[in-house]
Amino acid sequence: MNHIKGKETLSELATVYPYIVDILNQYRLDYTFNSETTLKEAVEKAGLSYEKVNADINLAIDEYIVTKPEVIYWENEPIHKIIDHIETKHHRFMEKTMDEILRLFHAMELTPELESLEKLFGELQAEILTHQIKEEEELFPLLKEYSGNRNSELRKKCVSYMEKTMGEHEQAGQVLKNINSMTDNFMPPVGATAELKKLYLKLNALEKDTFLHIHMENSILFKMI
Ligand SMILES: [Fe+2]
Ligand SMILES: [Fe+2]
Repeated sequence: MNHIKGKETLSELATVYPYIVDILNQYRLDYTFNSETTLKEAVEKAGLSYEKVNADINLAIDEYIVTKPEVIYWENEPIHKIIDHIETKHHRFMEKTMDEILRLFHAMELTPELESLEKLFGELQAEILTHQIKEEEELFPLLKEYSGNRNSELRKKCVSYMEKTMGEHEQAGQVLKNINSMTDNFMPPVGATAELKKLYLKLNALEKDTFLHIHMENSILFKMI
């Protein structure tokens, strides 16, 4: 059954059908940073077959309808619950995974390529850690305050803070894109050691979680303000 028309933006699709984000990731259809792009436009731009992508997404939706796994539609949840979820799920995951990645870099003998990758990763880690602290200590309390007291003064403060935050998301997204291309879409080279394979897996997991994390903030949480 055809559930989608192609005119939906990638961000809408990820919000309405949260269980299809793996397919979007698989085709590298960026639902986070090009959130205003429609599925059809994104597929055409990427030189993919719309029929194939459309069929895969419809199949995933059909499977979901049959198996009905538990899915939370975050757009229907209150602000404080979304914030708690972002902190406990995404922020803690980022910290843990970035630590693991750093340990893997330290455990390996680094080629010049891996040294550049480590440097890039180190910059990303520093940026993300500062970013998350600012969200937890400043932005999120402000959004919670606004949700209990919706006045225009407070909203203005929220909007200006959210704009800065979205700018930082875009920067982090750019670094992740560079990491992706440096690792050939996380494909370990032939003869890679077990550590290197693990490093690529962790970097891939970090990218996937960051997409979802930024989608939750930019396209779900911030839209409620
Ligand atoms: Fe965050
Ligand atoms: Fe963020």
